Amino acid sequence: MLPLPAQFIKSVQFHFGEIGEKWLKQLPELIGYCEQKWNVKIEEPISLSINYVAPAVMQDGSSVFIKISIPGEEFRNEIKALDLFRTRKMVKPIDYDLKCGILLLKKLVPGDSLAELSNDELRTQIAAEVHNSLTYPSQNQITLLPTTKSREGQLRKILQTNPNGIGPYSRSILQKALSLFAYLNETAKQNWILHGDFHHENILRDKGGWVAIDPKGLIGEREYDFIQFLLNQLPKENVEQTINKRIEILAEQCQLAKHRLIKWGFCHSVLATCQTSDDKNHYNEDFYQGSKAFFHLCKQIDAFGATNF
Ligand SMILES: Nc1ncnc2c1ncn2[C@@H]1O[C@H](COP(=O)(O)OP(=O)(O)OP(=O)(O)O)[C@@H](O)[C@H]1O
Ligand SMILES: [Mg+2]
Repeated sequence: MLPLPAQFIKSVQFHFGEIGEKWLKQLPELIGYCEQKWNVKIEEPISLSINYVAPAVMQDGSSVFIKISIPGEEFRNEIKALDLFRTRKMVKPIDYDLKCGILLLKKLVPGDSLAELSNDELRTQIAAEVHNSLTYPSQNQITLLPTTKSREGQLRKILQTNPNGIGPYSRSILQKALSLFAYLNETAKQNWILHGDFHHENILRDKGGWVAIDPKGLIGEREYDFIQFLLNQLPKENVEQTINKRIEILAEQCQLAKHRLIKWGFCHSVLATCQTSDDKNHYNEDFYQGSKAFFHLCKQIDAFGATNF
């Protein structure tokens, strides 16, 4: 195993603190455990964010992907989501180890992601098609996975612990986002089984077409699931126009309510920016720019009063 990249170590420490540090130390052992348990040869990872994901070769020569995560609720939800999407456009799991947080996945070939396509309209159309054949209305699975109501709870907690605001946001902006979150949850007509982290890098090309990977699993209104996609892979300029064009395409191809996409967009981008805010007042600039664009779009549809950033 090569030394772990500094950025990977930093991200794991930021997200998981001490538990993350302990897990980083255990990684060589966990890799050895996988190689023994499944008789695979694990190759070097291509890029790492907060999980250890690497290609591997089974003894019969077949190619797989190994994903090692910190065991816990998020990992269990990913396993549940893979199961809920098992007959749909989702990567197929081969096996997993809940206790150790290890997942063995069928390798997608060629495996390039939607982020590698440069035509933004085309990649938005492909994302709409994948989502149409991936997600479905929830029946009685409401207790299985986190909900958009729990995301609202996360923002409420952020406001409670940061009553004077956090990162780039004042208290008043956080309150606006929170009341809109509550309104949207209360007025949602149909809950769906959602991917929960649907964006360009989590949509890969396989022999039979495009499929999703890396589901977090979430239950809520379908519009919510597109916000990460709307915030991702944005140009440096014309952010709002790009978001608007994507909304047009998604609303038409997936029969979504544009005004709810815009409102969810504001709530989620504020939450996502807060969640990346550290004690040095650093935060994800793309999420913040996205929240500003959604704020402006909200004002155009008169979603709330006259507060400015
Ligand atoms: N089954 C697979 N076949 C081919 N490539 C894969 C497969 N699973 C993962 N990958 C590659 O590994 C990358 C990381 O995988 P994944 O998104 O599951 O991990 P992650 O750590 O949760 O990433 P992130 O936090 O960036 O979303 C993917 O973007 C993709 O390039
Ligand atoms: Mg991913």
